Amino acid sequence: MKPRRKRKVTSPRKPLTLEERELLKARKSHKSAKLSLVHAQKKIAKLEKDEEEHIDYEEVNPNYEEPSVQKEQPSILFEPNKGPQTDFLAAPEREVLYGGAAGGGKSFALIVDPLRYCTNSNFNALILRRTNDELRELIHKSQEIYPKAFPGARWMEKKSQWTFPSGARIWMTYLEQDKDVLRYQGQAFTYIGVDELTQYSTPYAWDYLRSRLRTADPTLPVYMRATTNPGGPGHLWVKKMFIDPSIPNQSFAATDISTGKVLRYPDKHSRAGESLFKRRFIPARLADNPYLSEAGDYEAMLLSLPEVQRKQLLEGSWDIAEGAAFGEFRRDRHVVTSFDVPNSWRKFRACDYGYSSYTGVLWFTVDPSTDTLIVYRELYVTKVTAKELAYMVMEAEEGDGNISYGVLDSSLWHKRGDTGPSLAEQMIVEGCRWRPSDRSKGSRVAGKNEVHRRLQIDEDADRAGLEIFDSCTNLIAQLPVLPLSKVNPEDVDTKAEDHLYDALRYGIMSRPVSRSIFDYPIDKGSSQWAPADATFGY
Ligand SMILES: Nc1ncnc2c1ncn2[C@@H]1O[C@H](COP(=O)(O)OP(=O)(O)OP(=O)(O)O)[C@@H](O)[C@H]1O
Ligand SMILES: [Mg+2]
Repeated sequence: MKPRRKRKVTSPRKPLTLEERELLKARKSHKSAKLSLVHAQKKIAKLEKDEEEHIDYEEVNPNYEEPSVQKEQPSILFEPNKGPQTDFLAAPEREVLYGGAAGGGKSFALIVDPLRYCTNSNFNALILRRTNDELRELIHKSQEIYPKAFPGARWMEKKSQWTFPSGARIWMTYLEQDKDVLRYQGQAFTYIGVDELTQYSTPYAWDYLRSRLRTADPTLPVYMRATTNPGGPGHLWVKKMFIDPSIPNQSFAATDISTGKVLRYPDKHSRAGESLFKRRFIPARLADNPYLSEAGDYEAMLLSLPEVQRKQLLEGSWDIAEGAAFGEFRRDRHVVTSFDVPNSWRKFRACDYGYSSYTGVLWFTVDPSTDTLIVYRELYVTKVTAKELAYMVMEAEEGDGNISYGVLDSSLWHKRGDTGPSLAEQMIVEGCRWRPSDRSKGSRVAGKNEVHRRLQIDEDADRAGLEIFDSCTNLIAQLPVLPLSKVNPEDVDTKAEDHLYDALRYGIMSRPVSRSIFDYPIDKGSSQWAPADATFGY
């Protein structure tokens, strides 16, 4: 006998030649043909035996009626649950979020949704989760369903992709960091689905993926679909994009989440003025998924959770954020109707700058009667250069009287490259003056503690130490839902949208006091500012 060749364990398996692959394929089909033959032979033998043993019932019983031939019922692989799951699968909008309670059948629907286009060879879908471990769950589910729905559908582990007999493809992969979206550069998808969208702390990946959505096949619609529970680092932007613009389950024109304005075709376009596309939010509840809700055990588990998680995961509430750092925030105590701030009150501002993310500027005043700190204006902008920001700030302050000082993220004094002024200096040169914020070790935690102290209600004054004008809608939306850091419970989650919070912290930590009558004489309208440091300009 020929000695068996030992297989090398270390070297990678040699790729099969074309002939070898053909041979393998032929062997496989030979084997399956043999199996079918055996099966058919058995069936014939059984039928022949039944015929031999056939009893003429009519002879025995003249009233005998031939039983009506039962039609073979088609086996139903999947039937959507009534309500939200059906709505999700039927939604015609370009972007749909199916979000809310845990166990509502969201992920399941996301896996099934693309199947209806898999008869089209041009269909190419991308299904994403944040991490590979979470993705395995979806792949596992798809392996249960896809081959039954489309015999011949093949899962290719290496490519992490399904291919269907028509040629349609579904790529199931993970996207951990924003920069990883470049993996999809140059690719086109007709369907993009993201499971657990709030796990992405910014809308960057979602927005980028929109650019990958296209098809040359006019019979194929293009869709973006997402599912999620409320909470998580992206709670706020997802809420702004899908929940805040409309009542649930209603189609609405997509808006820019930073301005709230409807996204429209530009002037001179053939569709100038028309909205770009539609969005819809479909709320999910556990009760809508009989596969989980009827047993009751899962509901009991959700009922046992602490209040915030219970509200999010059982009731699907978006008004409460998981692990909110400032759970004591109360709209009725901390938000006040805007009024004209007297120019005699001390005013100052604080800013956290970010070009590609957001820049947040807050203006503060101190009510001299109770020393209550009041945020009276906000500016929340993106893609604004330091120089542009300086002009925006100065324009906003026209009519404010004297602004005592401005505090700005101290990293803005770092030089960019060897030459050229820092971003802070660029603003100061334009006449918008700042001093650097405290960035020493422990300043973040100290700042958070001070925000908590300010949010407390002063029993004597019957007022909170911090009030916010109702016109500061972004700060009011962000502060109550800002999540606690998972690694350092003494701090907020810095991956969440925290630019306005940082500005608030810088402002609060500047130790503001109301103006004293012993301060320098007030000459309303003219600047009281005088630099203490000629270089820094503060
Ligand atoms: N239409 C359906 N037909 C059969 N089973 C279903 C259907 N919808 C949901 N299920 C079952 O319910 C289970 C829970 O659904 P799924 O995992 O989709 O919930 P979810 O809303 O994504 O939950 P979570 O919020 O925890 O991610 C699924 O694993 C599946 O077995
Ligand atoms: Mg899920």
